[in-house]
Amino acid sequence: MENILYLIAAVCFIFALKGLSSAESAMHGNICGIAGMMIVGIATFMLTNHFNLVFIISIILVGGAAGICITNAISMAALPQLMAGFHSMVGMAAVLVAYAVFLTPEIFGMIAPFGLQRSSLGEMGIGATVGAMTFSGSLLAFLKLQGICRKFNIPPALNAFLGMAMSGLLMYFVLTDGNRNAFILGTACAFVLGITLILPIGGADMPIIVSILNSLSGWTASGIGFTLHNDLLIITGALVGASGAILSHIMCKSMNRQLWDVIFKTERKDLAERLRVSRSFKQGCPEDAAYLLRNAKTVIVIPGYGMATSQAQHALKEMEEILAKFGAQIKYAIHPVAGRMPGHMNVLLAEANVSYDKVFEMDEINREFPICDVAYVIGANDITNPAAKKDPESPVYGMPILDVEKAKVILFLKRSMGPGYAGIDNELFYAANTVMLLGDAKKTTEAIIKAML
Ligand code: TAP
Repeated sequence: MENILYLIAAVCFIFALKGLSSAESAMHGNICGIAGMMIVGIATFMLTNHFNLVFIISIILVGGAAGICITNAISMAALPQLMAGFHSMVGMAAVLVAYAVFLTPEIFGMIAPFGLQRSSLGEMGIGATVGAMTFSGSLLAFLKLQGICRKFNIPPALNAFLGMAMSGLLMYFVLTDGNRNAFILGTACAFVLGITLILPIGGADMPIIVSILNSLSGWTASGIGFTLHNDLLIITGALVGASGAILSHIMCKSMNRQLWDVIFKTERKDLAERLRVSRSFKQGCPEDAAYLLRNAKTVIVIPGYGMATSQAQHALKEMEEILAKFGAQIKYAIHPVAGRMPGHMNVLLAEANVSYDKVFEMDEINREFPICDVAYVIGANDITNPAAKKDPESPVYGMPILDVEKAKVILFLKRSMGPGYAGIDNELFYAANTVMLLGDAKKTTEAIIKAML
């Protein structure tokens, strides 16, 4: 019965992932995921009799309440940090499970006549080290995304040394049938390695690293499944691990980066350190923008992180409706890494009831910029920077961008001439066809709407 319920739950999780792959079916995906988790809860706690149910239910209630409080308190813009924080917990759970099994194998029914089997020790060692790396790496990613910690270069030799020391200690642990000191030292190396691997990473590589950590947390959960002989945990962990790995690959492709380079190479310069030269630019007012938009036949909206922080999506939707009345065709161009998490812009636009058929991925929309009258760049920056195509010295060189510079007129909404996430200047601000509209994106859009009516 337990196995059948686990199987049904695993199928639910597969449908959840399938549903979450597009905005239209995301709600169904979430429902499948919730159903799967409920089935898991029932299977685990109702059908097994060796747990203290009251204790476990109390823990679930406390954890659930904490989850609700945290998600209510966290803004949409801080979701990547939240994800990184949650991944760190999966990592720590793996370490704790591995140590619990190692120290008290009899509780898990794993004691063999001559001690623990080497295969089990191997699983524990891998679970503890991968978990430790996931924990410290995700925690550091959280601090970086929160702006508490900055990028810091680490000599690659140190990482190589830590990696070799960790692997050596792990092997010694297995070959000596469970040397306790090797286990503890190996785990300590993994904790430090998680930090030293993530410390040099920054700028445009951060989203990829969060996705890699997501994948790692899945494989860690799978490892716990092997240790606990729990098939569902193995399947679910593998699903998370594989989907995270695929997402990392897609993101690497959209930034023109190799996974290996992201993790082990630090040749991208510290982006914030680059000099910015002040040059003249054209500044407009909402009335200018209203005039240009009223006379436009095709408008492409390019949302970015600033739209999320100013929560301008509802004003944008209102502007879309007014423009439609003037006979303009409006489309939204979504860059794969716009904002601070995959799908960030899609979520916000869906929240404002923007129709899915008006929302286009980068590859679909790029060919339309040359025939576009107005490109309305709202709180976006790096994803439009032509330096990614032209300047081999630029830290964003090679990252595919939206071809905004090809539009007839570019309206650029941001608060200042300051840089975006990558910390570099944007040529587009000074282009002859660009009008800068400086101010909060929501307030500026509302002022444009007022001027259009
Ligand atoms: P950014 O390049 O970070 O630019 C956002 C711009 O929004 C800033 O230049 C900022 O300029 C402006 N802004 C901020 N608050 C605003 C407000 N209230 N009103 C108007 N403008 C405001 O964002 P992007 O173009 O979306 O590119 C995303 C970047 O983040 C990429 O470099 C990407 O690699 C990185 N990243 C992405 C992810 C994922 S997975 N999407 C995760 C982490 C990092 P002002 O300060 O002058 O207003």
